[in-house]
Amino acid sequence: MKLVKKILAAVLALGMSSVLLAGCSDGAGNQSVAKIKESGEIVMYTNAAFAPFEYVDGQDVKGVDVEIALEIAKELGVELKVKDVKFDSIVPGIESGKAAFGAAGITITEDRKKSVDFSIEYYTSVQYIICKEDADFAKTEDLAGKAIGVQLGTTGDFLISDAIDGTEDEETKEHVKGVLEGSGASCKQYANAIEASQDLMNGRIDAVVIDKLPAESIVNNNSGLKCVKLEDAEPEAYGICVSKGNEELLKVIDEVLNRLISEGKIDSFVLAHSNA
Ligand code: ARG
Repeated sequence: MKLVKKILAAVLALGMSSVLLAGCSDGAGNQSVAKIKESGEIVMYTNAAFAPFEYVDGQDVKGVDVEIALEIAKELGVELKVKDVKFDSIVPGIESGKAAFGAAGITITEDRKKSVDFSIEYYTSVQYIICKEDADFAKTEDLAGKAIGVQLGTTGDFLISDAIDGTEDEETKEHVKGVLEGSGASCKQYANAIEASQDLMNGRIDAVVIDKLPAESIVNNNSGLKCVKLEDAEPEAYGICVSKGNEELLKVIDEVLNRLISEGKIDSFVLAHSNA
């Protein structure tokens, strides 16, 4: 009898530890769908200086990403909490489980994919140059010798920093000269593109590089500025990020995005917030 009990205890312990292990290895951590439902709320990280995707309106954060997030919260039957944080702390914050997902017009990149998992693409964009109305820029090359403002940690920042500093060839490890290298151009990193554009209007910098729709929004809200497509920039796809391995939450997000895309809702959200 004693032996039977011992075996039983051992089997039970084994079973329990595998349950514990499974709980850890799903990658969802404290942001699993079960935990979110239990807490009754889902936390989103964003950076609300990027209209029409997210912007501050009085006490609220509004925009396309908030509309999408509300649909995600509704699907889960929980309340949405939006946290306005620095853009470059969104991916690390999601990675460490401080929030369930990041929605901030975030471009899906290979580098970011090392830290977080991305949803399906929900919008395509491209980098734009904001400048004074009388300036004449079209390509990165045209910014030679200029002071260029970017939002810290964005793809616009990477593009300009790489053009000024050059890059390293992944295979040969050799230095690849950037198109602005040695031209005297400088990259000034700001908390957001709105602050960068303020410096542009004050004459402290010559151009701001940021995504298309936020560039258009800034130009619409300020006189004396215009914006043009950065001719040599590649298209970028936006995705929502979750912590690595949080497949269950990602599935819900993808389902919501697929539905919104097929109903043409993303475009109507963009239109609805385009005066911001
Ligand atoms: N798409 C660019 C990137 O992923 C800029 C995003 C900035 N978003 C924001 N909410 N400020 O790097």
